[in-house]
Formats: sequence, C-alpha cells, structure tokens
Amino acid sequence: MIKGILFDMDGVLIDSEEYIAKAAIAYFKSIGVEVKAEDFLPFVGAGEDRYIGGVAEKYGVTLELEQAKLDTYDIYEKLIMGKEGALPGVVRFLANAHAAGLFMAVATSADRRKMEVNLNAMGLDPKWFKVLVNGKDIERKKPYPDIYLKAAGEMGLANGECIVFEDATNGVQAAEAAGSLCGAITTSFSAEQLRAKGADFIISGLDDFEDFSTVAEFNRLLLRFKAREIATQVRLNAYSPYSQFQVGAAVVSASSGTIYRGCNVENSSYGATICAERGAMMEAVAAEGDFRVDMVVVVSDDDPPAPPCALCLQVMAEFAKEDTEVYLYNIDGGYTRYRFNELLPHPFIFPTQRHRHR
Ligand code: THU
Repeated sequence: MIKGILFDMDGVLIDSEEYIAKAAIAYFKSIGVEVKAEDFLPFVGAGEDRYIGGVAEKYGVTLELEQAKLDTYDIYEKLIMGKEGALPGVVRFLANAHAAGLFMAVATSADRRKMEVNLNAMGLDPKWFKVLVNGKDIERKKPYPDIYLKAAGEMGLANGECIVFEDATNGVQAAEAAGSLCGAITTSFSAEQLRAKGADFIISGLDDFEDFSTVAEFNRLLLRFKAREIATQVRLNAYSPYSQFQVGAAVVSASSGTIYRGCNVENSSYGATICAERGAMMEAVAAEGDFRVDMVVVVSDDDPPAPPCALCLQVMAEFAKEDTEVYLYNIDGGYTRYRFNELLPHPFIFPTQRHRHR
C-alpha cells in the first residue's frame, strides 16, 4: 500500500526551465558577460552549481558561486512570479492527495531558495508537504537514492510505501535504487528513455490522474497505471504476422494482486489464434489455479478500442466478477471503461470488417 508521495520538482510540479535560463542569461549580463541560451544545455539537470558554474568556466569567468546563484534566483523570482503556475493538474492532484491523507514531500536537487520561489509561484501551501528536501540537504545527488531515502525517512515511511514522481532519467534511477515505486512523467525525456531506467509506469503529467478521495482509491489508480504499463510492453511481443494487429493485456488477480500478462499469438490456422486477454488469464490460472479477475487492462492499436472477443469474454466469465473493471486503452492513453457485465453482448469485430455493421 502506497502511503506517501515524493515529488521531484522541476518538470513534475512546475516547468521552470525557460525562466531559469532567462534569469541566468540576465545574471551574466549584469556582470558584463554576454552568454547564449545554448551554453546552458550541457548542464541541464546537472544541479544548480554546474548550471551557473559550467557556463562561467566556459567564458573564463571566476564567480563566488553561492552569491551568483542567489543573485540569479532574485532575477528568477521576478521573472516567474505570476507567470508560470504549476503544470496542468498539479494543484488538483495535490488537493486530492492532501484530502485523502497521503503524506507528501518535495525532494529536489535544486537549492532551497529556488524551491521556495517555485512553491510560491505555484501558489501551493507549503503545509501540504510534510517534508521538503533540497540539494543542500544531501551529499550524493541523483542518480544516488539518498534524497529519496532521506525524504521517506523524514516522513516516517519506508521507501516501499512511497511513490516517486520524476521526469528525469537520473531521478528515475534514484527512485528505483531507493526501492520506491516510480511514476515517470514525459516532460523532459521520452517514455523509452524513462522505461530503460526502470520506471514502473509512464504518464504525461499528474493531470493523467483522475480525481480520488481516499488512499485506497489512489492505490487503485496506481494499480491501473502499472497494469497499463505491463500491457503496453507485452504488446510489443505480439506474434501477429497475419493481422499485424498488436494487443497486450494485463489481468490483475483479486486474491493476490499479481498482474498477469498476455499478447496475441496468431496461427496459420486462424481458429487457433489466442487473444492477449486469454493468454493473460491462462498465465493467471497456471500460477494461481482458480482465481478471481479484479481488473483487466488491454492496450491495442485499435481506436476507439473494441471490447474483447466472444471467446475471451466466455473464458473471462469463468473467472470474472460481474463488476470486474475492464479498461481498453489505445496507444495514446485514451480509454474506455466497462464493467464485465456490460461487455457480454458486445463482440469484438476486426477493424477492417466493421463497415459491415454500420
Ligand atoms: N485480439 C486480441 O488479442 N484481443 C482482443 O480483444 C481483440 C483481438 C487479437 C487476436 C488477433 O491476433 C488480432 O487481434 C485480430 O483479431
């Protein structure tokens, strides 16, 4: 059960890149050095010291770094105040999480001053966060897990009881090394890059979360994101030389919470084709014997996604409950939700044959 949330800040709660870049250029200008936006690129995500320090080195400027950063943050504050609010859905998500009683922490490599300016610029109540950890509080930066170990520890939770939201590959690596669940956000890196570092699921932002009002509801949303991630990955293993139609399915067992997976496997004798959903259910029976289906998540290149075929529904009827949730996702994350008992009368029809029924 996840009880706490650890947020990276930049790229998760706020997108301040543009403003800090402008502030840094203005700072160098104030000391008589003309620098370009591109000069900062090699130092993005490398921590605040390198961001200013690296560019200073490039131009052969000697700085008193701590003062240089404070001066830059003063400019940054003037630029960002009233301009850049939180990223879409962030305030709604935080309000839900706070009301649900989840513990929250910000764990950012940024300096305290920048963290405070950002919280202010977003209009967030700092009291919502039980713990605020910044770059100065830890020795070893991400990808070391230290910042997440410290943040969870200070909240009185084990890292296994926390989810980390991260947008950077280094941060995902840190979250995984800390033993936390990691939801990766595609603000700055691609889904593939974030997956490669071990992200447990991928979302485009906190706005992807529907509203929730309890810790249990939040955990159920996490379960669905995890199942969707597994279905998305297993889909790529589909053996479908005849239809070229790729489907991945994740079936969650009600008794164990385990997520079983399947992809469609076609055959020269078409009748022998096995759908992704049935593959996943067979895996569940092989592992657990008789089981109850809690949730099914299907990902296919079908849009809007069509419900499972009659054979899959027939097999599912053996193991599902009337209210088992069935989520059908397209590749872009759009989905339709059914309860099992709503699906029985709706057969799957292959996309190229649908015109017959119009
Ligand atoms: N397929 C599934 O795996 N699941 C569904 O819900 C619908 C169809 C597969 C079977 C076949 O390989 C291809 O999609 C076209 O029917």
